[in-house]
Amino acid sequence: MSDIPTLTLNDGATLPAVGFGTHTLTGTEGVDAIRSAIDAGYRLLDTAVNYGNEEEVGRAVRDSGIPRDEVFLTSKVPGRHHGYDDAIASTKESLQRLGVDHLDLHLIHWPNPSVDKYAEAWRALVDLREQGLVRSIGVSNFTAEHLDRIVAETGVTPAVNQLELHPWFPQTEMRVTNESREIQTQSWSPLGKRNAPFDEAPVRDAAEAHDVTPAQVILRWQVQLGALPIPKSGTPARQQENLAIFDFTLTDDEVAAITALGRPDGRLFDGDPNTHEEM
Ligand SMILES: NC(=O)c1ccc[n+]([C@@H]2O[C@H](COP(=O)([O-])OP(=O)(O)OC[C@H]3O[C@@H](n4cnc5c(N)ncnc54)[C@H](OP(=O)(O)O)[C@@H]3O)[C@@H](O)[C@H]2O)c1
Repeated sequence: MSDIPTLTLNDGATLPAVGFGTHTLTGTEGVDAIRSAIDAGYRLLDTAVNYGNEEEVGRAVRDSGIPRDEVFLTSKVPGRHHGYDDAIASTKESLQRLGVDHLDLHLIHWPNPSVDKYAEAWRALVDLREQGLVRSIGVSNFTAEHLDRIVAETGVTPAVNQLELHPWFPQTEMRVTNESREIQTQSWSPLGKRNAPFDEAPVRDAAEAHDVTPAQVILRWQVQLGALPIPKSGTPARQQENLAIFDFTLTDDEVAAITALGRPDGRLFDGDPNTHEEM
């Protein structure tokens, strides 16, 4: 099993430098896949109300026999629960489905600016943290403007901003925005999902140079950018592969060449947080 380094958030919490994405892992097969990820060594599991698999995540953790305090659980408040009372109730339901008494990290899944209730949801997360039901609080898909608004209204800076980030869309500006506020960037679809650029020259060349796979190159690139990737795989061998990224280092030129694959229209779908809304 690989030794996974840890990162420290702006609230003092520590978490593994790579996590496991669970989107689409549902039912018995989902439990088995999440359980095999835990067995492979993942200790950060990323779920959400909208993935419909919080029960599966909770079951896999219990079945693994790993003590609760050794697993870092993240979930997310969906857009339809942004009202203050709704966000509190939503979180309590997440805890119930997961079968735990606290979340390690809870995020606002999307800002949904046209609904204009994300600041209310943020106030709920601040209070849930006070009550000990969540340990760290953060956001996902927030722009600089959304971040500034919630900090101005509450004085509380998110610990994490989880963003679409892969070689086609390296989020150069948002990484600086997050870093300047001491917010940890997490990367969703860190490989680029079905569009993973495994055959692109900068990725392929680095894989050959370091005798690793293209997926390992991309995940290592994430780590060297200062981002925390949460790759999903339902395949045990790939789950293990995606953890083995801490015994080689890309050169600065290799990192820059992969970042240069980025393009303005590189998002995987039309997921601009100013316009894309998820309820
Ligand atoms: N906050 C948000 O709005 C948001 C949005 C999207 C996703 N997320 C989170 O981010 C997580 C990861 O994103 P994602 O699932 O969209 O994409 P991803 O992790 O970039 O890619 C997953 C895909 O890559 C394949 N794969 C994984 N490891 C591989 C390897 N070593 N070699 C070749 N193929 C490999 C997987 O196939 P197999 O499973 O068949 O191995 C799967 O098809 C999600 O599960 C979710 O937790 C958050």
